[in-house]
Amino acid sequence: MIFYRIVCRNLVAWVGLLLTWVTFSASVSNATSVAENRLAAEIVVMKGDLRRMGEFSSLPLIQKGLKDRLLGASAPLSLLIRTARENNSALPLPPENSVGALQRALVDKNFSEAAFWVDELLSVFPFEPKNIFPINKTKGSRIKAEALHEKFCSGCHANNADSHREINIERPAWNLFQMAKEVGKNELAARLFIGVKGDSLTAMDNPLSYTEMSRLIGLYRQGLNTKSNLSDGS
Ligand code: HEC
Repeated sequence: MIFYRIVCRNLVAWVGLLLTWVTFSASVSNATSVAENRLAAEIVVMKGDLRRMGEFSSLPLIQKGLKDRLLGASAPLSLLIRTARENNSALPLPPENSVGALQRALVDKNFSEAAFWVDELLSVFPFEPKNIFPINKTKGSRIKAEALHEKFCSGCHANNADSHREINIERPAWNLFQMAKEVGKNELAARLFIGVKGDSLTAMDNPLSYTEMSRLIGLYRQGLNTKSNLSDGS
């Protein structure tokens, strides 16, 4: 009987330990994917911003903003790679000197060379945000996304499709519905992933959950329907 109790207690302890381990490894692997996603998202957005450099060649202020963004994004790349590889040892090393060469190309305003190195990095660190895709397109999800957008985003990001581009400042808050038409859903996800910043309370981490990002992508890609009572926001 005593033996039975001891075995039983041990069993309870083991189950407890096992559960702790499962929870711990789940949070570790989640942390891994956040670091990897962040790294890959930065690279995808850099690729997009380099493309925009060409698209906005007649708008010097926007170009200046893009160049600053690109330099800012390239600065922490080595650290991001280190963190991502510390969390996931299976992650490969970046091509030799790629980060340094990318940074030099950006400083020298050699954007075609920068684009080459960005592609090299992207081939090693692809952006595959499994937690965001597939996009949830149900009506309920759309209603939640509309409420979220209206409450937290529309104050700065204009909604209506005809709103003019803000081109008199370096880093405007683009119309996200318009952006969704111009970029693929992978780039949109990457821009949401790193474009939304928290405050000092969240250590500037993105306050949106993966589900919320997924819903917003659905909304931005579908566009507002005319019956929607969302305010203009412009
Ligand atoms: C206080 C104003 C403000 C609010 C509120 C705001 N944004 Fe922004 N957002 C900006 C500005 C300004 C930028 C451009 C930053 C830059 O270029 O560095 C930006 C950038 C972004 C980007 C990146 C765009 C790009 O060019 O890569 C995304 C995506 C984005 N915001 C989504 C959102 C979403 C979603 C919300 C609501 C949850 C939101 N923002 C709320 C001002 C705001």
